[in-house]
Amino acid sequence: MMKDDLFAAVDAYIEHLFVPDDPVLRAVLQSITESEMPPIQVSPAQGQFLYLLAKLCGARRILELGTLAGYSAIWLARALPADGRLISLEADAKYAEVARRNLERAGLAHLVEIVIGPALEMLPALQARGERPFDMVFIDADKENYVAYLEWTLRLARPGSLIVADNVIREGRVLAPESGDSFAQSVRAFNAALAAERRVEAIILQQVGVKGHDGLALAWVKRE
Ligand code: SAH
Ligand code: DHB
Ligand code: MG
Repeated sequence: MMKDDLFAAVDAYIEHLFVPDDPVLRAVLQSITESEMPPIQVSPAQGQFLYLLAKLCGARRILELGTLAGYSAIWLARALPADGRLISLEADAKYAEVARRNLERAGLAHLVEIVIGPALEMLPALQARGERPFDMVFIDADKENYVAYLEWTLRLARPGSLIVADNVIREGRVLAPESGDSFAQSVRAFNAALAAERRVEAIILQQVGVKGHDGLALAWVKRE
């Protein structure tokens, strides 16, 4: 459809205006191609948006679910103060190794811990080792577990924390209860859980651009 080309062109226009060319991020994209990883990282404009959100909420401690090659991790870590911390969970040890090298090259490795393992096993481990609350959580791992990730996020966050979740619209397939697309079914359940969750106030931003038609959920953990 012609509209898709227009949306991608406008995304490129926004990127050209606000996202300066960056050798570090270019190397990350190259590592994704070379390692034959799926190119499903956030777009450059979404990266800048995540960076701004982290700055806006003054995040000192960020939790990310789904590292891939560390592209979004670099954006988030760049928003941290010198003594900040990003913990990023990744199930695939090979992806985590690529990400570790990319964070090293970005000069951010000292701020970032990549935890290897299925997030549903590593989240309890984070709680068990007494991690202090996270100021911001970016949910971007397997969509099947998004509902469970919301519950864990609320355990590891604090009143006033920001929660961001990627891929919650899936080309509008979330509208159909029986879409036959398990990915869309899972985020549909997540969106319903988020809307029903009394501990947060939330909204979904519908998005178009280089990654097609999708959405980003934003939620603020209420202060009692
Ligand atoms: N946030 C990244 C993209 C993440 S893609 C970026 O924007 O740059 C989703 C990632 O989640 C993949 O790397 C995948 O390996 C990982 N993943 C899938 N299932 C997972 C699980 N159960 N626990 C942790 N990570 C998982
Ligand atoms: C896809 C996109 C994503 O942003 C993601 O986190 C996982 C999968 C996709 O387009 O398939
Ligand atoms: Mg995503």
